[in-house]
Amino acid sequence: MANDLETLKDETLAALKEARTHSEWDAVRVGTLGRSGKLTGLLRQLGSFPHEERKERGQALNRLRDELTGLIEQRGKEIEELALQQRLAEETVDVTQPPATAPIGLIHPVSRTIEEITTIFGAMDFHVAEGPDIESQWHNFSALNTPEHHPARTEQDTFYLPATGESEEMRVLRTQTSGVQIRTMLGEKPPIRIIAPGRTYRADHDATHSPMFHQCEGLVIEKGITLGHLKGCLTEFLRAFFNQPDLPVRFRASYFPFTEPSMEIDIGWSRETGVIGGGADWLEVLGAGMVHARVLSNCGLDPAEWQGFAFGMGIERLAMLKNGITDLRSFYESDLRWLRHYGFSSLSPATLTEGF
Ligand code: DAH
Repeated sequence: MANDLETLKDETLAALKEARTHSEWDAVRVGTLGRSGKLTGLLRQLGSFPHEERKERGQALNRLRDELTGLIEQRGKEIEELALQQRLAEETVDVTQPPATAPIGLIHPVSRTIEEITTIFGAMDFHVAEGPDIESQWHNFSALNTPEHHPARTEQDTFYLPATGESEEMRVLRTQTSGVQIRTMLGEKPPIRIIAPGRTYRADHDATHSPMFHQCEGLVIEKGITLGHLKGCLTEFLRAFFNQPDLPVRFRASYFPFTEPSMEIDIGWSRETGVIGGGADWLEVLGAGMVHARVLSNCGLDPAEWQGFAFGMGIERLAMLKNGITDLRSFYESDLRWLRHYGFSSLSPATLTEGF
């Protein structure tokens, strides 16, 4: 090979070896094979060589071009691989480490409590149902066996909304989530197992009442459902929710228009210390009962064929008891000091086995 070709080859190899980045490598490639590259220049000058030298030099140049093209390509791949390795080394993520920037927000105790309730009932095969906050009187009262002049309609301090063009009747801000029972039975075929957490409204405001608060409804409709199922299900729920496998649970006869028999459910606690599970006192936490035959009929279900139980609980009340929160109003004051104290990390979701 002619001397100048040897030199070009050596220079190119040295430059390739030194190139560490894509742009350094590309500079070598263009400087050699590009339109004004060195090899291209030599090929162009071929015509000025005497005839007898031209053939041999032409072949040598072509060989050199093929050789250098191969070498440049190969080095290009090496550099790509190098860059990848470097990125992999630099960008490794240790998933066991906390995030460099911790999330600023915290989960509100109401949301957290809904999440805990949903987790527990979810494990018992319930799913979440929803209904509107603005409800017809029929869904909120009548279909739930609460007749026109029943005291519950005023007892619950209902917010009435003006009638709209569509209907002559005034609508209400739902006073309870129980209307979701009606909507579910009308919209789904049994067997049914739902909970319905959501906002409810009553014209009432003091340390333990807020005009807007949250309830969670529950409904089970299956064949052959008995009071025993109700007791088992709710005992299980309360023990899981309060993380106490031996939590005392008491079922006490009561009255609701939409259940027969109806009951209130108490858990054991100490009035003196406020400790849940210990002491000789009882604390009411839940309303429940066997779904009234008239409610089933109102939803087109034959009471001789289908039975079920329903329950309802106040979410803030459960959150207060579990987390030692004393004033209901604090839930809605948007006081960040309060939220920092009572809020929950978004990185530790509710689980079934928290306290067991
Ligand atoms: N809706 C009732 C309330 O707001 C709570 C309740 C009691 C719901 C018994 C139920 C039930 O489904 O069976 O006080």
